[in-house]
Amino acid sequence: MRLKGKNAVITGAASGVGRASSLLFAREGASIACVDIDAAMGEETAAMVRKEGGEAIFIETDLADPAAIERMASACMAWRSQIHILFNNAAIAERVEFESLPLEQWNQQIAVNLTAPFLCSQRLVPALRAAGKASIVHHGSIDGVQGNPTLIAYSASKGGLVPLTHVMAYWLSPHGIRVNCINSGALRDSTQGIPVRLTRDNREGKPMSEVQRRATPLGRAGTVEEAAAVALFLAF
Ligand SMILES: NC(=O)c1ccc[n+]([C@@H]2O[C@H](COP(=O)([O-])OP(=O)(O)OC[C@H]3O[C@@H](n4cnc5c(N)ncnc54)[C@H](O)[C@@H]3O)[C@@H](O)[C@H]2O)c1
Repeated sequence: MRLKGKNAVITGAASGVGRASSLLFAREGASIACVDIDAAMGEETAAMVRKEGGEAIFIETDLADPAAIERMASACMAWRSQIHILFNNAAIAERVEFESLPLEQWNQQIAVNLTAPFLCSQRLVPALRAAGKASIVHHGSIDGVQGNPTLIAYSASKGGLVPLTHVMAYWLSPHGIRVNCINSGALRDSTQGIPVRLTRDNREGKPMSEVQRRATPLGRAGTVEEAAAVALFLAF
């Protein structure tokens, strides 16, 4: 058990990579605070962890709302004074053409995908420092490196996580807190039947297009379990 006795906060825990990571980290011995805006599926993830004998709580949080993040951080620190792992995993992604992207939609994606990882990390620093040795993992995307013309605000927000990771590592490593970012390629499937909802394509269950497949060296989409395994490697 690689995470025995550790406490982990995982955002976006209601589905996809967040649910897979909650289950995987708990199987490795961690207690999990599952954070998500989706109360029904978030509670379900926590219940799945408990059903396997793990420890988990669910904290309903709209990560686009800084006041809600404050409440979530306080709840986490009331739950455990030491937090060893923060996985900033929640995100939203909307496909739209450049000229018709509304400012509101841009702002929402920046808030959830970029501002929230900054704010969750900042607000949880006291508990991460108290752990002595801690790890923050951001979930970026290949779209934040290369830019995806169909996911404009998503690409920009994920791109911001890369320098944010470097500057956070600069400020937090003296306190024993490592900071890393996973820039996953397309993730569509789950070996455990976990729903992956991020894009409309995912939500509608569409397979990868031929263009996407050709642009993907493996020739297939990744699974949420593969991404969770990378998060575990970085969390450990
Ligand atoms: N699926 C992919 O193809 C892919 C590719 C690269 C990176 N990623 C990254 O993986 C991470 C997880 O995505 P996923 O694929 O598991 O998708 P997902 O949609 O299944 O999971 C995202 C979770 O975030 C939650 N969320 C959305 N808005 C929120 C808000 N305002 N407050 C709190 N929670 C909110 C959703 O309810 C959902 O449970 C994301 O950071 C995503 O960018 C995914």
